[in-house]
Amino acid sequence: MDVLKPIAVNNWHNNPSNEISQEAIQALEHGKIVFLPQLNFTLSADENSLLSPALTNPKRKNICFNPHSGETRGAAASALQQVQLKILMQRYYQHTLGLVSTLFPSYQKHLIAGRTSLRTVEISGRSSSYKKDDSRVHVDSFAATPVNGLRILRVFSNINPHGVARIWQTGESFSTVAKRFLPEIPSISTVEQYLLRLFKVTKALRSPYDHFMLNIHNKMKKDRAYQQSVIKTTLALPPKSSWIVYSDQVSHAAISGQHVLEQTFYLPSTAMHYPETTPLFVLEEMLKHSLIIQDKQVVSAAVEM
Ligand SMILES: [Fe+2]
Repeated sequence: MDVLKPIAVNNWHNNPSNEISQEAIQALEHGKIVFLPQLNFTLSADENSLLSPALTNPKRKNICFNPHSGETRGAAASALQQVQLKILMQRYYQHTLGLVSTLFPSYQKHLIAGRTSLRTVEISGRSSSYKKDDSRVHVDSFAATPVNGLRILRVFSNINPHGVARIWQTGESFSTVAKRFLPEIPSISTVEQYLLRLFKVTKALRSPYDHFMLNIHNKMKKDRAYQQSVIKTTLALPPKSSWIVYSDQVSHAAISGQHVLEQTFYLPSTAMHYPETTPLFVLEEMLKHSLIIQDKQVVSAAVEM
């Protein structure tokens, strides 16, 4: 199966035909990466000067922007650069919102904006703990920010000014990953959920869904034999291209590359055209019980920095 689904869109606010939209959503929800080889996000000459890892706090992987509050985090930059970073990331958020809303019109009313990130640090050689090592194949799950069954939809644009591709690898399908790792994961207790919240480890109650997704994420990354043996597909995502992926579903690793913009959106699993492909459905089918909880805090936690 081809991992990439190329879609010929060259405009952030295009109105693609219904046929293109249907093709894109079918591929996206079935675990492909919607690849937009002609969709470039253009930076001004001034903005190009922001593409320096020196502007990222050395303790962080990237600079983040919260589209709800207008706040940026993770920058070690002058006051002027902070303003430029904010303008750049605000514009990227608006462009990706336009893209997702027009390419997937049925998603529009369900989209919840998450963080925007500017990633100017070279991935290759970046040292970190195994849990934070994104060069290991994994599905996304956030330790502090429960999503309670919301999907994690991410848009990426390679803005490398030196012609360098971003190298990714993809692994097995979500259902194959779940079959491999889920049986090893014990359930989370209610006491543990409340203690994690009480001690501010999590911003909202960690739902059973988040518990299992986070454990799958951690177990995938920790298992060296799995990392070495799992069949991977290597992708070179070129500069001046963009791509869209459900990163909670697609096993992925970022191997090398520098200078990318990323926008996260959250969507309810119920907004999917093919709900049987969602991680929530797959896990609930395997465990034979509901994994989400009634907690309105979860959505607000998902959009916090
Ligand atoms: Fe990831």
